[in-house]
Amino acid sequence: MGFQSCAREPGAAGVAWLADREAQTAYHSLVMRTFFARTFRLCALLLLIGGCGSDQAAAQARPVPNPQLAARELNGRVDALLKQMTLDEKIGQLVQYSAGFATGPSASNLTYEELVAKGQVGSMLNVVGAEKTNHFQHIAMEKSRLHIPIIFGLDVIHGHRTTFPVPLAVAATWDPEAAETVAHTGAVEARADGIPWVFSPMVDIARDARWGRIVESNGEDPYLGSAMARAWVNGYQQGDLSKPDSVAVSVKHFGAYGAGIGGRDYNAVDMSEITLRQVYLEPYHAAVEAGAATLMSSFNSINGVPASANPFTLTQILRKEWGFSGFVVSDWGAVAELLNHAIGADGATVARKALEAGVDMDMEGGLYGTTLAAQVRSGAIPESVVDEAVRRILRVKYALGLFDHPYTEAGPAYDATPERRAIARKVAAESMVLLKNDTVEGVGALLPLAAKVKKVALIGPMADDQREMLGAWSVTGDPKYVITLKTALEERLGGKESGRLLYAEGCGLLSGEDANLLKGVSFGSANVAAEPLPIPDDQKTIDEAVETVRKADVAILALGEPTNWMEGEAASRVQLGFTGAQEQLLGAVVATGKPVVLLVLAGRPLELKWAASHVPAIVEAWSPGVEAGHAVADVLFGDVNPAGKLPVSLPRAVGQEPLYYAQLPTGRPAHGDLSRMPRNSEEKFMSRYVDEENSALFPFGWGLSYTRFSYGKPTTSRSEVPVGEILAVHKPVASVGVDVTNTGTVAGAEVVQLYLRNTAASVEQPVRELKGFARIQLAPGETGHVDFPLGFDELSFFDVGIKRTVEPTTYKIWVGGSSLATAETSFKVIE
Ligand code: NOJ
Repeated sequence: MGFQSCAREPGAAGVAWLADREAQTAYHSLVMRTFFARTFRLCALLLLIGGCGSDQAAAQARPVPNPQLAARELNGRVDALLKQMTLDEKIGQLVQYSAGFATGPSASNLTYEELVAKGQVGSMLNVVGAEKTNHFQHIAMEKSRLHIPIIFGLDVIHGHRTTFPVPLAVAATWDPEAAETVAHTGAVEARADGIPWVFSPMVDIARDARWGRIVESNGEDPYLGSAMARAWVNGYQQGDLSKPDSVAVSVKHFGAYGAGIGGRDYNAVDMSEITLRQVYLEPYHAAVEAGAATLMSSFNSINGVPASANPFTLTQILRKEWGFSGFVVSDWGAVAELLNHAIGADGATVARKALEAGVDMDMEGGLYGTTLAAQVRSGAIPESVVDEAVRRILRVKYALGLFDHPYTEAGPAYDATPERRAIARKVAAESMVLLKNDTVEGVGALLPLAAKVKKVALIGPMADDQREMLGAWSVTGDPKYVITLKTALEERLGGKESGRLLYAEGCGLLSGEDANLLKGVSFGSANVAAEPLPIPDDQKTIDEAVETVRKADVAILALGEPTNWMEGEAASRVQLGFTGAQEQLLGAVVATGKPVVLLVLAGRPLELKWAASHVPAIVEAWSPGVEAGHAVADVLFGDVNPAGKLPVSLPRAVGQEPLYYAQLPTGRPAHGDLSRMPRNSEEKFMSRYVDEENSALFPFGWGLSYTRFSYGKPTTSRSEVPVGEILAVHKPVASVGVDVTNTGTVAGAEVVQLYLRNTAASVEQPVRELKGFARIQLAPGETGHVDFPLGFDELSFFDVGIKRTVEPTTYKIWVGGSSLATAETSFKVIE
């Protein structure tokens, strides 16, 4: 909700967000009316402290983005403590061990109590709960010489105990306040469990659906990704790390982890510096500007230098250009893995390279703890380098208040309260994207389901699986709290006795030899049953499902992929279809001729080409979390009018990946009918595939509603602006305004999107780029007006000298409800 450009102040974490729609609408018009005044004030303020823009010179003039970490008093305490520390104690602060479950290849198995008592463990991960964290904290505070508290970290990815929709789904709300709410709720629950530090948000740009971690991302776009990055950081940290319900973030995975070659996890990244900065690093920068306290360095290499030993990204960009003053933790074992990257012959060398590049803490790698002290003693590493890393870590510990409040009071056992459930349900419903909603003979638009639909057949392996609804990377979410779709529909339609709801699983998520694999999967590991279980007969269960559908008026088909094994980390795929026998099930259900609503429950873009041409209604429901069933039902029955928009392009075929709308231009742009083979050289010699269209099946920004919106002609407040003015003021210099009307019969929200194209730049720019969005709520017949600012932030790009600049040019401008927006105007930047 609200305007994104240039709006970088920490927002009030989502409390107000729960207010009813009326209040939101009122808020919107207020925001719209006061936007310019607010933007002006905000930018004037930012100018005073260093400017809205992000060129390097301005960055250098800027104060550190997190004033708390720069505070003199805090740094005085840090220095005083540092003076008392022995070398071994200093290095202890740089070491992190997993003393709980493993979230990586294999956890070390040390006697942590002894190490903690000696002051040789600065941090632990995967230790959860007041009792367990207090156990180690008491040893650190009472037995270690200097009583330095441990900082406990955990993967709190989309909620902690209360599981919200996966981050990609949260991005589909295009509502930063929703992200802020999810983050803040996670923070409150994490703190109650002794966790003051979360390994979130993941802000990696993800343009390749083969990469399983796309589920943890905000999708393909740097503008949307940056808005969401700021919101997650604000929700977790609340602009004040010392609050008892704030947690420090670890923005990950720095950097460009999402661009692994071939969409394969942990793979090398090779890209131009311009793309790196302008696309991939943008959301990290936004997160740092929002005050992120820590970052996590990634597994991949960037242009030949591993990200976890990369002085260019970790020191030059992150610290010198962006002014980051928190600390960097490596990803799990990433320092030790530098040996596999072959940038050093032994552990000592690679540990030195990581530390000197700017990795302050070694997560579960063991190399800092075992190799650094000797290197400092031999003079191979100056002690000042160690000191600086220790300072950065202690700063965050002090800012979090850990020295004064190291323990966590044991509270009542977690329960999914109605309040938390209400938030989870709202965010989940808001995240759903109505991809398609055709009319069906005798019914009209298939969704929302009409009251006259008497019998519903609910089919599919995702219809009643509590664990699957939690999605990937739900570390502490408990499936027992999940409301499945079957449960929610029983509530609405009555159970078996009502006769209105028929149910058949149809098939499992996997088939054949793999069919039983998921039974043994717990977070991050699979235990194969000792006795092989019988392989299910898919044909038989599909036949049963078909019989069930024949008895109903409409079929709701809930399909997906195994979220905890085939999504998230180490879950790259080369096929993007529904797994197991689900495609077969889909075909068989469609063949009954009954109207079918397809629910896609997955954390990555799946290939839906066949479904899109055979199924009248499709809802991208992602992995909706603890309130999955209620939220889906809210949308299916029209209690919630869907307004989610895709944060990623959905492909027609896996061969299109990486697929994203903001393509760079080509000298031979494709045109004409690309849906068939080229028939002559005219049709052939252009940038196209001969066997598939170039475009996405459902493009970035796409999402339908139960109402319709029409767009007026966009106008600019000024038609041209001198380049010098834009460079000088670093604040909006003009605006693009548009009227949007709800022309349908029900109220609905629309995400109004602004796209620009620079038509004459010294470095070629994408054919379209998102540069603004606003979510507005409109009653039937109501017209709303949205103004988007234009200034340095929206118009600038990196030139060949790697300077963020604006040049004289003409911008094409489109405003609309997706990246296909057609309402057009233009804007000139003159000499
Ligand atoms: C590895 C993952 O890449 C990272 O996202 C996570 O935070 C750490 N393990 C800790 O579990």
